[in-house]
Amino acid sequence: MTPSVELFELRHGRGTTRHWAGWGAFDEAAAALAPELAGRALFAVSTPRVLGLHGGVLERLAAGAASLHRLEVPEGEAAKSLEVASGLWRRLSALGGKRDSRLLAFGGGSVGDLGGFVAGAFLRGIGVLQLPTTLLAQVDASIGGKTAIDLPEAKNVVGLFHQPLAVVAETAWLTTLPASELRSGLVEAIKTGMALDPELFERIERDLPRLVGGDPGALAPVVAAAARAKAGVVERDPEEAGEREILNLGHTLGHALESASGYGRLLHGDAVAHGLRFALRLAANRGLDPGFGARCLQLLDRLAVPPLPPLAVDDLLERLARDKKARERGLGWVLPLAPGRVRRGVVVAGEEIVREVARFLEGATAR
Ligand SMILES: NC(=O)c1ccc[n+]([C@@H]2O[C@H](COP(=O)([O-])OP(=O)(O)OC[C@H]3O[C@@H](n4cnc5c(N)ncnc54)[C@H](O)[C@@H]3O)[C@@H](O)[C@H]2O)c1
Repeated sequence: MTPSVELFELRHGRGTTRHWAGWGAFDEAAAALAPELAGRALFAVSTPRVLGLHGGVLERLAAGAASLHRLEVPEGEAAKSLEVASGLWRRLSALGGKRDSRLLAFGGGSVGDLGGFVAGAFLRGIGVLQLPTTLLAQVDASIGGKTAIDLPEAKNVVGLFHQPLAVVAETAWLTTLPASELRSGLVEAIKTGMALDPELFERIERDLPRLVGGDPGALAPVVAAAARAKAGVVERDPEEAGEREILNLGHTLGHALESASGYGRLLHGDAVAHGLRFALRLAANRGLDPGFGARCLQLLDRLAVPPLPPLAVDDLLERLARDKKARERGLGWVLPLAPGRVRRGVVVAGEEIVREVARFLEGATAR
């Protein structure tokens, strides 16, 4: 395949993030970044699976570096713990990590969240490069500087904003992803298309069979467009004081579904797909263009997201209520209106949520 790479910049309060996305992104980025990494100690945080599949490329990025240390962390959400973070800080110290060292977060969204957090706090902040290897991380998690680890009580509760120096989304890495992870990542790209980018939405509608099949030629432009659209929002609202909230489309119920089903049982994107359906339902009598609503539902149907495991209505409502208490201003829903247009901060009466959640679960649960 011939290279097809997009390069754009995201400007923020601390400088600029350079973002390469597409087939061949790594080679282009490595050529540009190697001189800046020369003479520095590099710490690559990754999982055994990602290192085994794609770890060979790191040498090219580190060609002129003083050293390259590979630090393995557990697969998946298990990486995002205080114990793993503290183990990494201790290793960075023992291996002579300094203010000008660089951390490379090489993996899915879990590694990106952990690596960003560890880099953001070590010596009050060292530079991080995000090298996302899942579709979800390429279209969403690696962009915007949100980092976090989990506590046993809840997910993502300890974290900080730490914008990466660079993001390198090499779509060749996606060829080894299982189909379920591709589907999960596609949901976030669909969300971005619904909320921000009608052309991206149309492209996904048109190319869906190739995208779910992992066709690199179809994935590269979707990754680039979704990343660029999210970067635009982050640039205008880096720390989620307002507009950035629109990226939470589908996530209000999605997060509650993820935690109610027990983390790890439901893929993040699958939970968001159910959350998008729920948002479409709430939006139906709140200004949603019916033609667009039908297109969204059809696209989600074609993705064939598995049904939900059996969940108790009361438990789900309790989790939504906890989310509400977590925000001073109450729970504001993000609802779709038309291609690329959403309304945020929509307050929906408690009785309607109770009624709609019950009906929704009936239709979305495995029998
Ligand atoms: N910071 C943000 O803005 C943000 C946004 C969305 C999600 N997230 C976080 O992202 C995490 C989910 O990320 P994810 O969906 O990427 O899952 P993940 O990071 O847990 O990765 C899933 C599995 O895929 C493996 N894997 C990674 N790349 C692979 C490849 N190229 N080929 C084969 N296997 C590969 C991983 O090793 C892991 O075992 C959650 O913790 C979520 O909270 C963060």
